[in-house]
Amino acid sequence: MTELRAREPLTIPEIGAMKSAGTKIVMVTAYDHPSARLASEAGVDLILVGDSAGNNVLGYSSTVPVTMDEAVMLTAAVARAKPGALVIGDMPFGSFQASDADAVANAARLVKAGADAVKLEGAGPMLSRVTAIVGGGIPVMGHLGLTPQSATMLGGMKAQGRTAEAATQLLADARALETAGIFSLVLESVPARIGAHVSAALSIPTIGIGAGPGTDGQVLVWHDLLGINEGVAPRFVKRYADVAGEIRRGLEAFAAEVRSGAYPADEHVYKISAEELRAFETSLED
Ligand code: KIV
Repeated sequence: MTELRAREPLTIPEIGAMKSAGTKIVMVTAYDHPSARLASEAGVDLILVGDSAGNNVLGYSSTVPVTMDEAVMLTAAVARAKPGALVIGDMPFGSFQASDADAVANAARLVKAGADAVKLEGAGPMLSRVTAIVGGGIPVMGHLGLTPQSATMLGGMKAQGRTAEAATQLLADARALETAGIFSLVLESVPARIGAHVSAALSIPTIGIGAGPGTDGQVLVWHDLLGINEGVAPRFVKRYADVAGEIRRGLEAFAAEVRSGAYPADEHVYKISAEELRAFETSLED
């Protein structure tokens, strides 16, 4: 039986055309099947199976430990939802840094798992990785600014491009990535004015996370925007729901009803006819 999607995912050219039309692009991260289905039903344009799964679902303290096997498993779970959104598999740390050949092979693994495109962090030595992957027929999304996989080299998880020199380098890297063939670029944690400058300088769309309103789209991490993560969050996070609170209320109500005996009630139990029950109980007496 053919499964119906809410809509067909956007194509890469259609995503490019959104920039020219001034239509903002909506991207969220998702790491599992039900989340991908909900994102699709809500009409998001792009789902990023981010390596932020490391901190948000796998219990690591950063994105660095995420492995290709984990990225493949999460990407496959998302893709099985057949979302009406383009699925982007994030290339984890270590999956593309060593060589172009590694990068193409690992990008292909994500595509075989169901990704429509891949994302990788950085420029400089990573430009040839982009060219190689795109040359292999796989669309690539770039990622500049705060690139969490190299946070140690960047001096921690802090905003980037805050000096004229750093902003000039950021713009040069963005242009080089565009020339290398990326179809869009994530800009993370850069000043809003720099996010707008870089976006205006490129013909491909930029997707901002902490890069201000001047980018061509916005992305937030699932657990941040839905309030699954609680406590201190980066400045750019806006919580649109209190899912942690809702889960806690549900679990507390379940625990209270189990303890009081209110659950399960009559409507939650299976019945047996009086005749069959009598026969069973008689057999116990024999
Ligand atoms: O892994 C991720 O969630 C990301 C976003 C922050 C863009 O790379």
